Amino acid sequence: MNHHTQTITIGEDVDSWKTMILIYNSALKEVGTKLEILNDEFQHVHQYNPIEYIKSRIKSPESIVKKLKRNGHESTISNMTQYINDIAGIRIVCSFLPDIYRLAEMIGRQNDLTVVSIKDYIKHPKKSGYKSYHMLVTIPIFLSDRVVDAKVEIQIRTIAMDFWASLEHKIYYKFEGNAPGYISRDLRECSGLVSMLDEKMMSLNEAILKAKEEQTEK
Ligand code: GTP
Ligand code: MG
Repeated sequence: MNHHTQTITIGEDVDSWKTMILIYNSALKEVGTKLEILNDEFQHVHQYNPIEYIKSRIKSPESIVKKLKRNGHESTISNMTQYINDIAGIRIVCSFLPDIYRLAEMIGRQNDLTVVSIKDYIKHPKKSGYKSYHMLVTIPIFLSDRVVDAKVEIQIRTIAMDFWASLEHKIYYKFEGNAPGYISRDLRECSGLVSMLDEKMMSLNEAILKAKEEQTEK
């Protein structure tokens, strides 16, 4: 990189929708590859995959515009890149609870990636019962004549948490946010069951690993 090239945060000079989408798509590729590498190496060292699956998506134009409107902003490219943190989103679904924190730590240690903020809705679930670990990161995207930092929202959760969130999301949309009280209550109760299931599966996994170890020692 020559010294005339400066790093700019996306938004400062991105003026077209196409350029913006290209940058966010590149950001998803960069982060996706990082996660694959971590998963492969983890498999190599510890003989198991912490990641069950990864989903990534670019927020649809309709949702971007709707969200800006909801927050009282005009629909400009600069407002999109400035105010919307989840245009590029990656969801990592893990098998067990400790995998979430292990992955988050591994992601946080990567020098070419900046962690902007963390929201731990596992330690502090939302009122709805929502549980997930969120990281907002930026990653530099090297274009032909400049470097742009792009934001990516990473959500890390267990399969059980993902199951709950998918269902809750569907119900929320069915009622447009006004679900009857008993449904919200039942959902919160289910969220408690999800935590119990995650705890159980985690100790079961630990017991399995221990029993396996003792077997091979003999
Ligand atoms: P937005 O929720 O995107 O407006 O941003 P925020 O600043 O409130 O961030 P937050 O971390 O609360 O939420 C980011 C994303 O997490 C959302 O876009 C959803 O994908 C997910 N999420 C947050 N809360 C809930 C919830 O109660 N239920 C479900 N199903 N998903 C949620
Ligand atoms: Mg929210």
